[in-house]
Amino acid sequence: MLFNKKMLVVSIFCTGILVIAQSFAPKDHDEKPVNLKVLPKDISNEELHNIMRSYSLALGVRCGFCHTGKQIEGQQRMKMDFAADDKHEKIVAREMMKMTAAINANYIDKMPREGRALEQITCVTCHNGRTTPIVSADSLVKKEVH
Ligand code: HEC
Ligand code: HEC
Repeated sequence: MLFNKKMLVVSIFCTGILVIAQSFAPKDHDEKPVNLKVLPKDISNEELHNIMRSYSLALGVRCGFCHTGKQIEGQQRMKMDFAADDKHEKIVAREMMKMTAAINANYIDKMPREGRALEQITCVTCHNGRTTPIVSADSLVKKEVH
């Protein structure tokens, strides 16, 4: 009984710390997006974030691969400018988003299927954790030799 009470106090304390930590977290990307050209403009921050994390994972990179930021004096973290279109990787990614959606809508979703719905493709289908997908059987052979 005493143990349970202790646990309760500890967990309330921890929740308190979490709430405080969250309210001090950098607000870099908590603002409303202002430069979406492919994703729906009314997308929730949570959904936008999940998508961005999925891109990072798919290509095996961090946010800075597509986004720029600048160092601000006296601050450890870079101030990211997610809305800026100043990296060619972001511009390419936008086209890749359209391409992936088009392949799904125009081909995958229209495939003749036997009972089983075909899995839609994503960035992972091609990128598999790297920025440059393996594009030919030759690169597979080379990889095996290494
Ligand atoms: C492979 C490239 C790529 C990576 C990696 C990436 N992003 Fe993005 N990000 C984009 C593209 C492209 C857009 C614009 C989408 C559009 O136009 O609909 C975007 C838009 C955004 C926006 C909206 C900005 C605005 O105001 O319009 C935010 C916020 C954002 N990214 C955060 C992140 C975060 C956080 C990460 C890391 C977890 C990340 N991104 C990783 C490509 C990337
Ligand atoms: C049908 C296969 C395919 C899909 C799906 C795909 N890509 Fe790509 N992607 C490629 C190929 C091929 C290249 C070019 C590789 C090279 O450099 O020759 C590329 C290159 C890129 C680059 C440029 C990398 C660099 O080093 O400049 C970015 C960024 C990128 N893709 C993002 C994405 C994102 C984000 C998605 C999902 C929305 C995606 N790709 C889905 C095939 C694909």
